Amino acid sequence: MRIISLKQELMDKKMHNTPEKVEQYYAEWTDRYLESFGTYFQALQTTNQEDLMWYIADLVHLGNGMRVLDAGCGVGGPALSLASRFDIDIQGITISQNQVDYANQNKAKANLKGQVQFQKMDFHTIDQHYPENHFDVIYFLESLVHSDNPERAIQSVRKVLKPQGVLYLKDLFKGPRNPVDPQYVDYAINATNEQFCLHVRDMGEILDVLTKYGFRISFCRTPEVDQNFDLGNAFTAKYLFQLKMDQEGPWMDEGFIFLHWMEILAHKHY
Ligand SMILES: C[S@@+](CC[C@H](N)C(=O)[O-])C[C@H]1O[C@@H](n2cnc3c(N)ncnc32)[C@H](O)[C@@H]1O
Repeated sequence: MRIISLKQELMDKKMHNTPEKVEQYYAEWTDRYLESFGTYFQALQTTNQEDLMWYIADLVHLGNGMRVLDAGCGVGGPALSLASRFDIDIQGITISQNQVDYANQNKAKANLKGQVQFQKMDFHTIDQHYPENHFDVIYFLESLVHSDNPERAIQSVRKVLKPQGVLYLKDLFKGPRNPVDPQYVDYAINATNEQFCLHVRDMGEILDVLTKYGFRISFCRTPEVDQNFDLGNAFTAKYLFQLKMDQEGPWMDEGFIFLHWMEILAHKHY
């Protein structure tokens, strides 16, 4: 028994992707992401990349004069899109210094109506860097999934968000299990976590944390956009799954779904 639990402990340790590991991961992988994705590092995109940002701007009722935080901003594509349309003050934070450098280069080329600042910061600690009740809108685009402690991240979001402020999350979550063979999904999820330095969770875990910290959830659903996974699929095919997902199993079949992409819109209620 002890041997089995030691094995599990070792496995958990290996799979435990801390912010430091995420930082190392992006130090190594950002150039490949740039080459494959351009300035939007997301698997679920719209065919016209900017359409997704107009859709989100609409959902969060973005308006001139607002203060916005892009938590996990990558090389700045989403924040720069919003600031080119709206006269907003947007802070983009990422755990990766090379992403900050690229984001600043992209900013120098952009035609902005608003203000954008990029800096290296861990989104678990934003409450140590910004005043309480500061932001109108905070969003995470496929970034919270990297967190080893989403509760800490949401707690700090709560502090810096204004009362009734908006939190928007778009992320990947565990897909439906096949009740007959649940281990296939778990195998695929573990491989995904290891490859992309993630902690893919059940959606319920994030919803629980949100309600625990005083958020009222307006909706949790599949994003209502023309979903395009072409860039993400090409990236995966080019670099990743062939290395690890080499065991026989249903993930080799087309149409096997072990992840799903969802969006959550919530307001700070308390
Ligand atoms: C898949 S990329 C998405 C980037 C961006 N949202 C976009 O749409 O292009 C994930 C991002 O989350 C950031 N990230 C992950 N963990 C973080 C943390 N603890 N603090 C700040 N940023 C983090 C990464 O540095 C990266 O920029």
